[in-house]
Amino acid sequence: MNIERTFVAIKPDAVQRGLMGKIITRFEEKGFKIIAMKMLEVTKEQAAAHYAEHEGKPFYDGLVKFIMSAPIIAMVVEGIDAVAEVRHILGATNPSNADVGSIRADFSPVMCCNCTHASDSVASAEREMAIYFDVEKELCTNWKTRMEIILDDLSK
Ligand code: CMP
Repeated sequence: MNIERTFVAIKPDAVQRGLMGKIITRFEEKGFKIIAMKMLEVTKEQAAAHYAEHEGKPFYDGLVKFIMSAPIIAMVVEGIDAVAEVRHILGATNPSNADVGSIRADFSPVMCCNCTHASDSVASAEREMAIYFDVEKELCTNWKTRMEIILDDLSK
C-alpha cells in the first residue's frame, strides 16, 4: 500500500463560517489519519512561501490577503494515496467544476473562497508541511487508527 502524507489547510472562509468540524470529519470518516493539526494566523512570510508558485498571477495579491484575513487550520493527513485521495475529497479548485459530494462543491460558492487547500504532490506536501510545522517535533506518529489496526490484522 502506498502510504503518503499531505498538507491540508482549512482556509479563513471555512473557519469564519464554522465549517471546521464538518471538514475535519470528512477526512476522519474516510479513514485518514490526522497526525498534526493547529490553528494559526498566517504570516506574510508563510503566505509568500506557500503561494510562491502563483507570484505574478493576477489573483496572487488577493490570495495572499485572503489567507491572512482570519485564522486557518493547518493539518498533516496520512493514509493510502493521501495526496490524490485528499484532493478528490476537496474537489476541483473551481467549485463550479467540483464533484457533487466534495467539500468545495458542497460548501464553497467561488474559487477565491474554496474552503480548503491540499498539496498537489508528495514533494509539495513536504514543502508545505515545513512552512507550517516543525516536522521533526510536531507530527504525532506513534499511534494507530482503527483502520490501521484492522489492516495490520488482515495482513498477518
Ligand atoms: P488553492 O488550492 O489554495 O491554491 C491556490 C489558490 O488560488 C486556489 O486554491 C484558489 O483558491 C485561488 N485562486 C483564485 N483565483 C484563481 C485562479 N484564477 N486560478 C487558480 N486558483 C485561483
